Amino acid sequence: MHVLSSKNSIAVSSGKGGVGKTLTSVHLAATSARRGDRTLIIDGDLGLANVDVLLGLKPENSIFEVLTGRLTIEDALVRGPLGITVLPAGSGIAALQNLDPSMRDSFLDDIRRIANRFDTVIIDTGAGISETVLQLNRLAAINLVVTTPEPHAITDAYALIKVLSECEDVPAVALAVNQVRSDDEGRRIFDRLSEVASRFLSTKLVFAGAIPLDPAVQRGVMARRAVQENSNFSIAGQAWTQCFHRILSTSDGWRPGTGDIHDPSDMSLEGTHP
Ligand SMILES: Nc1ncnc2c1ncn2[C@@H]1O[C@H](COP(=O)(O)OP(=O)(O)O)[C@@H](O)[C@H]1O
Ligand SMILES: [Mg+2]
Repeated sequence: MHVLSSKNSIAVSSGKGGVGKTLTSVHLAATSARRGDRTLIIDGDLGLANVDVLLGLKPENSIFEVLTGRLTIEDALVRGPLGITVLPAGSGIAALQNLDPSMRDSFLDDIRRIANRFDTVIIDTGAGISETVLQLNRLAAINLVVTTPEPHAITDAYALIKVLSECEDVPAVALAVNQVRSDDEGRRIFDRLSEVASRFLSTKLVFAGAIPLDPAVQRGVMARRAVQENSNFSIAGQAWTQCFHRILSTSDGWRPGTGDIHDPSDMSLEGTHP
């Protein structure tokens, strides 16, 4: 068991890029910070950092300086809005995209070492199914996969869920459907994926929520202020807040090491499977 020792740890992943992983990560972190939790967000999209940009930060250092031995991980951490602690990933550094196993191990060890100083650790992973992404997923107690309603995003989300289901210690995966035009649209996509997963995979899918396509999100991105003090500034922000609470309140039965896996119908707050 390699799961982080913080109270809550969520890895946010997707098959396809550009679906809203980083926005989901920063909003989950913001929700955690707003309720007073000590919150760390790890930009796991190594070499293509986005978290700092969305939060309006300009960090001088990143995980790159840590991996090359110039800084300790503590020195690379920066303070973001709402008191969120950020571990920046470094931008435009090709070496970070292809970490050799010893560097990856030391990165994972560093994260494990600092995790217990935080109540919540959110990991924004890169898109796809690289070894680094999978290892980051295995660090987190909760794996959240993000998709949009686009068919190729859904296909790639399923491919990632399949790969995750083949890892040990992943009894369930939460799914958030982002950029929906209605809650129903999100729910239908979840139901479809969940049905296929229940037939072919050993991992259960758990509904984490549907987040509306919301112009306020794009305005926040352009202003480098993706999160604000109050989540009510956008309907998507409110949906991400609900998503955070839903994931934590339903996850007790399916985090690694917390007991038997229940049927997903017991876990969904709103009766995903009537
Ligand atoms: N709920 C949403 N409403 C409107 N636009 C969104 C929403 N989620 C994501 N976007 C758009 O998609 C872009 C990519 O989001 P991002 O979180 O960077 O994706 P990823 O991390 O998966 O590559 C954002 O810059 C934003 O313009
Ligand atoms: Mg991203």
